[in-house]
Amino acid sequence: MTMDELASDLDGIVATEADISAALDRLAGEIRSDYTDPSSLLLVGVLKGAVMVMADLARRLPPGVAMDWMAVSSYGAGTRSSGVVRILKDLDADLTGRHVLIVEDIVDSGRTLSWLLGNLRSRGALSVEVATLLRKPEAAVVNVPVKYVGIDIPNAFVVGFGLDYAERFRGLPYVALLAPHVYAEDAE
Ligand code: PRP
Repeated sequence: MTMDELASDLDGIVATEADISAALDRLAGEIRSDYTDPSSLLLVGVLKGAVMVMADLARRLPPGVAMDWMAVSSYGAGTRSSGVVRILKDLDADLTGRHVLIVEDIVDSGRTLSWLLGNLRSRGALSVEVATLLRKPEAAVVNVPVKYVGIDIPNAFVVGFGLDYAERFRGLPYVALLAPHVYAEDAE
């Protein structure tokens, strides 16, 4: 795909590289002041979308902060509304006595996070909080307490900075609207 073809699939930028950098600076500042003992803090990233946010957030935090990953999947369209989630890859870490901070790229309906919060809170952590780069307030189906929010965005199909459409666009350094013709073509 050429850069021109890429640009024609996008329909405007929702968060520039500068917007994202400023949001992550602010979030890292809040997290640093709230977690005074970095060695007790475990960042939990949710694959795959959170990879970019995790990388850039973790590099703004003290080196003693630990990192772990989960991969989860909804059971499918029929059960998605129930919020039933399947663990594809579980954490390596034991959460007992740790302060856990879930790192997400986006909170959309809130279903994934709602389930994840319940799951991780049952594992003996001292605390479980959430940091997300992006949030779509208008898309919320489940009300989830998100302590650290980077940027609120409109309820539209966005890609980039970890977010994909059919596994494309995750590597964009900014967040953009997906042009409607892209998903319209695939729906035909
Ligand atoms: C995205 C995103 C969140 C979730 C948010 O992941 O990374 O985990 O959806 O949506 P929700 O608030 O409606 O639950 P996705 O399932 O697309 O997987 P991916 O990260 O591998 O792209």
